[in-house]
Amino acid sequence: MNDDIEKILYSKEDIQQVAKKLGQQITKDYVDKNPLVVCILKGAILFMSDIVREIDTYCELDFMSVSSYGNAQVSSGSVKIIKDLDVSVEGRNVLIIEDIIDTGRTLQTLVDLFEHRKANSVKICTLLDKKERRVEGVTPDYVGFEVPNEFVVGYGLDYLGHYRNLPYVGVLKPKIYSDN
Ligand code: PRP
Ligand code: MN
Ligand code: MG
Repeated sequence: MNDDIEKILYSKEDIQQVAKKLGQQITKDYVDKNPLVVCILKGAILFMSDIVREIDTYCELDFMSVSSYGNAQVSSGSVKIIKDLDVSVEGRNVLIIEDIIDTGRTLQTLVDLFEHRKANSVKICTLLDKKERRVEGVTPDYVGFEVPNEFVVGYGLDYLGHYRNLPYVGVLKPKIYSDN
């Protein structure tokens, strides 16, 4: 599996360091706000588990599964809710955890949805921000890294369901996706 990676962009250590820094900021911003920290499955699973360990105040966790890509390489443009939250966001301070913002469609849909459901506040924390590809006006509040427009996998990010379990973020060798 590691042989399919052209280069490592962010190592396990780079990610731990950035998670710690963001966790400290989030802690400061959310003391006494009892945030509802929402993991967007599946991509955000690894980042969620690392970031919440760096949040040093009371919070609750919930999980939502949405998909815009399915097995395609480019976004289909419509975001499908596969599993909704278990709890109500009404009156809550929602902090969305994402692995990557690409076109911004997923997050635009979710921010609109949570605002419609009367959340008190909605903020976004993303490991990666691929600004170049943005079509929606989504601006994250906490960003790990601004990532170039390359095909990145690992640390939650998949290609055809694989590579999510890599402990780092890397660029996939072009021969892997051009074979499909
Ligand atoms: C990926 C990624 C983000 C979204 C970003 O999820 O994890 O959630 O796409 O793209 P966008 O900004 O263009 O909407 P995907 O739909 O592939 O589902 P997954 O997390 O289960 O892999
Ligand atoms: Mn996702
Ligand atoms: Mg995906």
